[in-house]
Amino acid sequence: MHIVYLNGDYVPKSAAKISVYDRGLLFSDAVYEVISVIGGRLIDMGRHVARLERSLGELSINAFADWSAVAQKLVADNDLDEGLVYLQVSRGVMEERDYRWPAPETAPTIFAFAQERSLLENPMATRGMRIITRSDLRWQRCDIKTTQLLYASLMKMEAEAAGVDDVWMTRDDLVTEGTSQNAHIISHDGILISHQLDRRILPGVTRIEMLTQAKSMGLTVEERAFSIDEAKDAAEAFVSSSTLLIMPVIEIDGHKIGDGHPGERTGKIRQSYISAVQGRPSTET
Ligand code: PDD
Repeated sequence: MHIVYLNGDYVPKSAAKISVYDRGLLFSDAVYEVISVIGGRLIDMGRHVARLERSLGELSINAFADWSAVAQKLVADNDLDEGLVYLQVSRGVMEERDYRWPAPETAPTIFAFAQERSLLENPMATRGMRIITRSDLRWQRCDIKTTQLLYASLMKMEAEAAGVDDVWMTRDDLVTEGTSQNAHIISHDGILISHQLDRRILPGVTRIEMLTQAKSMGLTVEERAFSIDEAKDAAEAFVSSSTLLIMPVIEIDGHKIGDGHPGERTGKIRQSYISAVQGRPSTET
């Protein structure tokens, strides 16, 4: 992956330079998207663009680009078959450090790069993920996809140190989401429970298509928060994200979910999700 995008230009990665005064660097005053690429096609680009524009709007960052065209050119120029495109927009560069941001006409910093990664063949899909829970100490606007990822990074390091795969975060004893995935459970009576869209979670692009597939499989969907105890008692648990797609969870805080193996319905949702996104033109929403 040699070609990256920076402020309108496609350049070799060694030539892409960003100012030390960039607000993305100094204040995490930036938003981003991660779009999966399967078979050389961008998955759900339209929905990623819609969310990016919403994030920008919520923070009053004025940035315009043909986001889909940028992502598509990076896939083509880097000959990417499977992996992701990362796209970031910061408010831009200021003359000196100041909490207040510069005038609205300041040019944003827009960059993007492609990264190869195996998405379809992930050993976790057959072995399942082991999760621990921790308090959600992030800010209260988790619906905006900002680059303030320090807490999520700390939690991923904590998971690694604990010998598990990831962390589910909780507020008021209710599970919000994973460090970089949405969290879901299926109850013993076949109800799929997924946190409602509010400021506590990121509105996952994968979650939208996952819910559509689950409903078409006949599952009833309840969009509400669930407790750690409810998750431990569930028949199945899983996460959704652009890079993990749909991934089964088999253990929470040392407690086995169901029979301790990836759930059957989760497996079906993963398969139908993959078929659905593969059979669809890349820019369709
Ligand atoms: N993360 N919740 C959080 C906190 C996330 O960071 C992500 C995505 C999701 C799932 O959203 P989507 O289905 O749109 O990918 C939920 C990306 C993959 C990342 O930061 O790498």
